[in-house]
Amino acid sequence: MGKKINMRFIRALVVIFLIVFWFYVISTGFMLYFTKHIAGTTPILFGITRSLWKDLHFWLSVIATTVTVFHIIVDWKALTANIRYLIKNQ
Ligand code: HEM
Repeated sequence: MGKKINMRFIRALVVIFLIVFWFYVISTGFMLYFTKHIAGTTPILFGITRSLWKDLHFWLSVIATTVTVFHIIVDWKALTANIRYLIKNQ
């Protein structure tokens, strides 16, 4: 009855999420870095205040970190195989 979970699909989706979420964490991080002289109450992009961008940056990084942990779990076999390969062929 229960359809088998397509792990190949899950792994592919996780990698896309990794790229998307880390892209936004890094972008907002750089934006915050270059606007350090601006007050938190000032809108800096899309009418959103710097203080709210900090919150967005934080929650995006929570999601990106969670996806990274998930990525390590679902690709564990590939990760350990690569490490074994590097050790064997050093
Ligand atoms: C797991 C990854 C990350 C986490 C958990 C994280 C967390 C945070 C948090 C909580 C703040 C807010 C600090 C506050 O309220 O004063 C912050 C600010 C900031 N983050 Fe990140 N961050 C991450 C990745 C990055 C990356 C990749 C960059 C660089 C591209 C970056 C650059 C910054 C900058 C410049 C600020 C503003 C600091 C300030 O205004 O004083 N962060 N980050």
